[in-house]
Amino acid sequence: MDQFEIQGGRPLKGRVTISGSKNAALPCLFATLLTDQVCTLDQVPALADIETALKLLVTLGKKVDRVGSKVVISKGRPLTGKAPYELVRRMRASVLVMGPLLARRKRAQVSMPGGCAIGARPVNYHIDGFHRMGVETTIHEGYVDARTKGLKGGLIPLPYPSVGASENLLMGAVLAKGTTIIQNAAREPEVVDLGRMLQKMGASIRGLETSEITIEGVKSLSGTSHTVIPDRIEAGTFMIAAGVTKGDILIENVNMAHLGNVVHSLKQAGLSVEPEGRSVRVTYVKKLKPVNIETDVYPAFPTDMQAQWITMMALTGGRSRVRETVFENRYLHVQELLRFGADISLAGRDAEVKGVAALSGCDCMVSDLRAGAALVLAGLAAKGKTTVLRVYHLDRGYERMEKKLQALGARIKRVSA
Ligand code: EPZ
Repeated sequence: MDQFEIQGGRPLKGRVTISGSKNAALPCLFATLLTDQVCTLDQVPALADIETALKLLVTLGKKVDRVGSKVVISKGRPLTGKAPYELVRRMRASVLVMGPLLARRKRAQVSMPGGCAIGARPVNYHIDGFHRMGVETTIHEGYVDARTKGLKGGLIPLPYPSVGASENLLMGAVLAKGTTIIQNAAREPEVVDLGRMLQKMGASIRGLETSEITIEGVKSLSGTSHTVIPDRIEAGTFMIAAGVTKGDILIENVNMAHLGNVVHSLKQAGLSVEPEGRSVRVTYVKKLKPVNIETDVYPAFPTDMQAQWITMMALTGGRSRVRETVFENRYLHVQELLRFGADISLAGRDAEVKGVAALSGCDCMVSDLRAGAALVLAGLAAKGKTTVLRVYHLDRGYERMEKKLQALGARIKRVSA
């Protein structure tokens, strides 16, 4: 298992280019199951999760060709309907094949995803939504076996604006018979990007970017070419890297509209954030100020930025409170940050952070993707050496992370243990 070795304490300076969004690329890749025609996706990041998704597409019958950052998906053999445990356990987003397979094959056998470090993360909203579209499901040997005589449109009031459930149901509805209304739908940019791709394939969708999406089912969808949106969480992570290392970074390929709340909080913390076309320059100006944040669904402060934010709050001149409202167990990074000398106490959904003068490097272990980002940021800020273990979690969601950081002057290297 690889690890990162970091010598911290150097300001990061220079420019970095943000890759395509993991959480938009994944549903867009699975949307190609909705047609036998050729689909070309551009700006697909080179990540472990993307490789898992491509393997799954091949398992289901697709032909996959990668040409640089482009992925070309075409018809292989007739679609089969099984998403195997060994792929689903590695990446829970595999559950998103359920909608397309039900739409095309009237059957989907998808392994239950199993647990996850940050929470139970059930898929009941997905299943309940498909039940409303004429799907019957049984659990058999750890698999959800979903069958339908044909998806039919329906009214689907989501109990919670779940990103994955909105995407899964959207992909089923586009080929369903009749009209589907998804109420309380997620509004995340990644859901909208999927919707835009489906519209280019011929789907009839109204209400993207709102919490009520109406879909008129069509007979079939054609292939398309689609460029995936930039990864707003990678962009936010590099913005915080400028803050914690007292740096000055020009971050290229950013859609600022997708980061409204994060930018607002960064400015409150005292950073200079200056958009320059499709780039943004983030500069450390003075001692960071404590800023309370509460994670919630888009457009609120994103849960995927919470861990990184805590690292920055550990270096302010005062006390701040972070409240995590999306996942029930997303503070695994806190125990590790305490080892850097951070002063953080947990109380239920809240983390109380008291700024300290400096962090000191240490050995630490990554538990999940964004916790890993928080630990790398702490290592970059800390005095001395940090060793980050289990960086495979980071490889799931950050493309060439150490290379991008090295180009900004960070003393970080990947070591195969
Ligand atoms: C997506 O996960 C993202 N993953 C997550 O990013 C992100 O943290 C999350 O949305 C919230 O923004 C991908 O897009 C691949 P949800 P998803 O369904 O779809 C509960 C990362 O770091 N829930 O909106 O799984 C669930 O347990 C990852 O890139 C149910 O109870 O998120 C959670 O508490 C981490 N039943 C809350 O809703 C369900 O059927 C939000 O989950 C579905 C969800």
